Amino acid sequence: MKKHLFFIGYMGSGKTSVARALSEKLNLPLLDMDEAISKRFDMPINKVFETFGEERFRDAETELLDEISKLDSPLIVSCGGGVPMRPENRAFLKENGKTILLNASIEEIIRRLNCDSLSNENARPLLNNEIDESHINAMIEKRKAAYEETADFSISTDGLAPEEIALNIIELMH
Ligand code: S3P
Repeated sequence: MKKHLFFIGYMGSGKTSVARALSEKLNLPLLDMDEAISKRFDMPINKVFETFGEERFRDAETELLDEISKLDSPLIVSCGGGVPMRPENRAFLKENGKTILLNASIEEIIRRLNCDSLSNENARPLLNNEIDESHINAMIEKRKAAYEETADFSISTDGLAPEEIALNIIELMH
């Protein structure tokens, strides 16, 4: 049964803040996958990568999606940026809800990632604390097809506040 609302997109595309704004507007519970995995391992995501390796982290993402798919009540889910890269994860998203792809310009992504990198908790392990435009562009290009294949809707978040984007999404879904 299709029930959840999944947010996908590159790091810094605004998934967590838009998902939070939408969950407040629709009065639906929010599940942030990174936050849930971090709680499960009792350490920040970058420590999970460092201690157990990326593959273990990716397995934890797939396990969590499997659990989400078994829940009856609808959730708003902010997915980690790498979630749509596994075919089985894409199948989960398609079978268990609607998926919204958030897009942002490279300038906006870099600005948001720079802000986040000031906090250790939000540092992105795949970037090794280096916010490099060509590296990010290459990663976006590599992921684009999987993101677009998974999404039911896609929205640009440039220059918009999370609340405005949440309102646009509500309109789009009607
Ligand atoms: C990742 C994105 C991160 C986090 C991890 C890997 C990725 O989540 O899951 O660092 O592969 O793009 P956000 O997209 O919420 O930053």
